[in-house]
Amino acid sequence: MSSLRQARKFLFAPCLLPQVERRLSICLPPSIRQYTVSLLNQHQHHKKTKQVSGMISPKVSVSPFTSSNPCYFSSSSNFWTDKRLFTPGPLGVTLNVKQAMLRDVGSRDNEFIECVKFIRHKLIEITGVSKDDFCCVPIQGSGTFAVDAAFQTALPKEGAKVLVIENGSYGKRMVKICESAGIEVHTQSFREDCAVEPEVIEDALQGPVMYDLVAIVHSETSSGVINPVSEVGKIVKENNPETIFLVDAISSFGAVGLDIEESNIDIFVSSANKCLQGVPGFAFVIARNTVMAKCKGNSRSLALDLYDQVTQLDKTNQFRFTPPTHSMLAFKRALEEYEEEGRVKGRSKRYAANRDVLREGMTKLGFQELLDPKVAGYIITSYKYPKDPNFNFPEFYNRLNEKDFVIYPGKVLDADCFRIGTIGDLHPQDMADLLVAVEEVCKDMGIKLPVQY
Ligand SMILES: Cc1ncc(COP(=O)(O)O)c(C=O)c1O
Repeated sequence: MSSLRQARKFLFAPCLLPQVERRLSICLPPSIRQYTVSLLNQHQHHKKTKQVSGMISPKVSVSPFTSSNPCYFSSSSNFWTDKRLFTPGPLGVTLNVKQAMLRDVGSRDNEFIECVKFIRHKLIEITGVSKDDFCCVPIQGSGTFAVDAAFQTALPKEGAKVLVIENGSYGKRMVKICESAGIEVHTQSFREDCAVEPEVIEDALQGPVMYDLVAIVHSETSSGVINPVSEVGKIVKENNPETIFLVDAISSFGAVGLDIEESNIDIFVSSANKCLQGVPGFAFVIARNTVMAKCKGNSRSLALDLYDQVTQLDKTNQFRFTPPTHSMLAFKRALEEYEEEGRVKGRSKRYAANRDVLREGMTKLGFQELLDPKVAGYIITSYKYPKDPNFNFPEFYNRLNEKDFVIYPGKVLDADCFRIGTIGDLHPQDMADLLVAVEEVCKDMGIKLPVQY
């Protein structure tokens, strides 16, 4: 054996890893130490996943695009542990994205100002709209903050009427946002396991009420349904070109193609920690300039006033209040990775591949999806609880969690479901590993396989 191979064998020996980590902590600066330890971890992870096998483990070609995160042996060490997140958010992000935020920058540093400029410019470019017609307004907080800010800003304090088209929790949240802001809101509801029907909306818009704004969710993450936003946008504008069309694309932007201009969208909302794979900390709105220009003084909230926010950003590229510096540094790297992966084409390909592996494996285990595949996206999948006396979700969840796999409870009102997300820094091999864990947990819980309904 060559001395190099001997050295590698020595370095990667599991029993020596804690010592290696300790040595690294003494002799290397923190960022290099973390990187080196992560390589050691990855090596262990790859060794481990290669050994994994199970009756439902689908054939997945091992690609360089397996999850980049260190972690999977580290529950036994006291070094940082990353869980694998099969959720709608927060989502796992790559090691490089995490590393990009391991620095402090001042909000007025040139570097940070350039970072804000880059992000605003790149988001406009990625959405495919013209910078002459649309502006990008990042806002501190999670996705809900940006949706709230969009309603607050777009509608005057008195007399505005809104139609929210909803088929799930995030549509219902928009209704709540309007109610708490004192905005008159009407609702057109659809079943949570179905997509919205444009013909029904056409009828609703021809009623006596003239709406100032119509809102819809693109990917209704509570079930996984993808709504026909373009068709709805066309109907909204045919009915009244002055009506503002607002789309919550929080869980779809970056991975599900949507042409903003062609879909007649005026206000488009998304978030850093979804398909663009940044870390949580801010969300953003892409708004039509002609709409934004009429919004001065509308907002009932100072912090959520997007008009003020964009005015200040346009002037100085600085935020009005403490900016999310670390998440923006991370997001810049995330956008570079998004480009490297081939933007929406590359990302949708990986997420759809994740969903295919999941679907095949879960079907073999007998699990039934809530949605008809015709309306289901590849962002998140809802599975009905099996009818087995030994199945109970909290235990199922906890046992998977103990193995460092995090899935998510259901969010559909009238069906008992759980959800498995396929977005973030997840790759087909991660889905295959999850399936092995699901099979093991079912066996440990005494659930008959394939599961029964
Ligand atoms: C479609 C949609 N809208 C809104 C939200 C709310 O975002 P946040 O939880 O970041 O506030 C989510 C979160 O998953 C979502 O998926």
